[in-house]
Amino acid sequence: MPDTQRHPFLHGLSLHRGAPPTVIVIFGASGDLTARKLIPAVYNLSHDNLLPADFFLVGYGRTAIPDEEFRSLAAAAVREFSRRELREDAWSRVAAHTSYVAGAYDDPKAFDRLAEHLDALERKLGRELQRLFYISTPPSVFAPIVRHLGTSGLAGRHRDQPHHARVIVEKPFGKDLGSARALNTAIGAVFAEHQVYRIDHYLGKETVQDLLVQRFANAIFEPLWNRNFIDSVQITVAEEVGVGSRGGYYEQSGALRDMIQNHTMQLLALTAMEPPGSLEAEAIRDEKVKVLNAIQPLTIGPAGDVARAQYSAGMLGGKAVPGYLEEEGIAPDSNTETFAALRLSINNWRWQGVPFYLRSGKRMARRVTEIAVNFRRPPGTLFAGETSRFDLAANTLSFQIQPDEGLHLILNTKVPGLETRTQPVKMNFRYATTFGSNTAEAYERLVLDAMIGDGTLFIRGDEAEASWKLYTPVLDYWNSVGRSGMDTYAAGSWGPASAEALLAARGHGWRQP
Ligand code: NDP
Ligand code: BG6
Repeated sequence: MPDTQRHPFLHGLSLHRGAPPTVIVIFGASGDLTARKLIPAVYNLSHDNLLPADFFLVGYGRTAIPDEEFRSLAAAAVREFSRRELREDAWSRVAAHTSYVAGAYDDPKAFDRLAEHLDALERKLGRELQRLFYISTPPSVFAPIVRHLGTSGLAGRHRDQPHHARVIVEKPFGKDLGSARALNTAIGAVFAEHQVYRIDHYLGKETVQDLLVQRFANAIFEPLWNRNFIDSVQITVAEEVGVGSRGGYYEQSGALRDMIQNHTMQLLALTAMEPPGSLEAEAIRDEKVKVLNAIQPLTIGPAGDVARAQYSAGMLGGKAVPGYLEEEGIAPDSNTETFAALRLSINNWRWQGVPFYLRSGKRMARRVTEIAVNFRRPPGTLFAGETSRFDLAANTLSFQIQPDEGLHLILNTKVPGLETRTQPVKMNFRYATTFGSNTAEAYERLVLDAMIGDGTLFIRGDEAEASWKLYTPVLDYWNSVGRSGMDTYAAGSWGPASAEALLAARGHGWRQP
């Protein structure tokens, strides 16, 4: 019996038992994500004995790849991208049950062949397998694949036992509210919502899950977690990388679609949501949807709540890097933002009047994702004379999501000496120091949770729509004004002046993470 069946363990955020016998079918198996993330995730689950004893991996794609070659490519992907070295015993358990089916994403006959392939696996095994379909293709074929899963009977074979077929859908989930709704409708025609797992890999990050544990497993935060004590919240998702070879994709996307609408909003939802009634997926997702729906519509246009910019040439890590408009595959007059910053207001009892500032960009000074909760300034009267009231720092609690994961608290402290002088100091907790560094990758957690049937760390359909509802008017506006209002920032900086102005208008400034 595998370990997973002997011991209950923590998944999503609550306690579960191991995954049932499963076959994962990856659509787009010849692609980049499969090699860089999905195969290494499966390997590491095998390494940790977290796969069910009866586990099968089937790659699917238009490229014809013989089984043996697919296994070699998969082993090469593990060697290149896995966080741990390939260990022969752990890999051979996966490789022995790995195969490949070639076919188009809109060819009914190819889906019949896939169905026959899966039936043959089950016949040989002598039992039925849970079928987990992972759609890892460009979004243009998400809907056709789902439709063919329906018409071929692959999705509905176990209608009486709905957990027997599940679908994981990669991002981006739509490009605006209309397309996200259409995709939800297409998926809903074939799968029930509880069978659908929309990926946001940020939810699989260890520190993102820890956010809820910090908030609700400690008594000291919740009483202060509201407008009476919190002055503002800043969420920064900064990247050093530029668009690299992904220019074609990025031109259609931009920072708002690529990072803000999904990853950054998930961080906001977990920070701002009410305590859920339980750690069940639906309880958490209900609270996230409520808080997303409580965000006030954005004021758009000059002096509005949103800033956008593109990076210009600059220096990063001592090297000169080109501006966005000089990158490969980018139109010289591109209207795509590589940076976006926003000022959001949440209209509910807890957060009324507390600005939430969000920013995300490529080619910024340093790779860092953090949530900084700034508390109100303490009354400084006691220290007047020695330290002016305004010299007392506000307390800040920051969740360092990546890299160097941790939790930091800024406190005012007396500087040793005969006079009473205060100085802000940082109290640090670092995951790596306490727990070691080689933690599971987001995709390991997410693939395992989908196998187990825990949707906590996935996006529900109404959640995706709530976020798109907020941002679609911004995207429409930008589309209508062309490059007007597009700011620039030097690669290697912390962003454009217009992002500073957003905060300065409310007497705030961006924190240097
Ligand atoms: P790829 O561009 O590598 O595409 C995956 C596979 O899909 C290809 O190998 C190809 O397989 C098939 N494919 C490519 N273009 C088309 C097309 N126009 N029409 C139909 N099929 C096509 O994508 P990735 O692997 O990079 O990404 C897969 C999904 O994951 C995407 O939705 C992406 O947004 C998402 N994602 C990717 C990340 C990454 O780091 N790569 C990060 C986060 C999300 P074949 O020709 O054999 O059919
Ligand atoms: C992806 C975006 O979703 O997230 C990329 O498409 C971005 O543009 C990436 O680089 C960042 O993820 P991480 O885990 O490196 O912060």
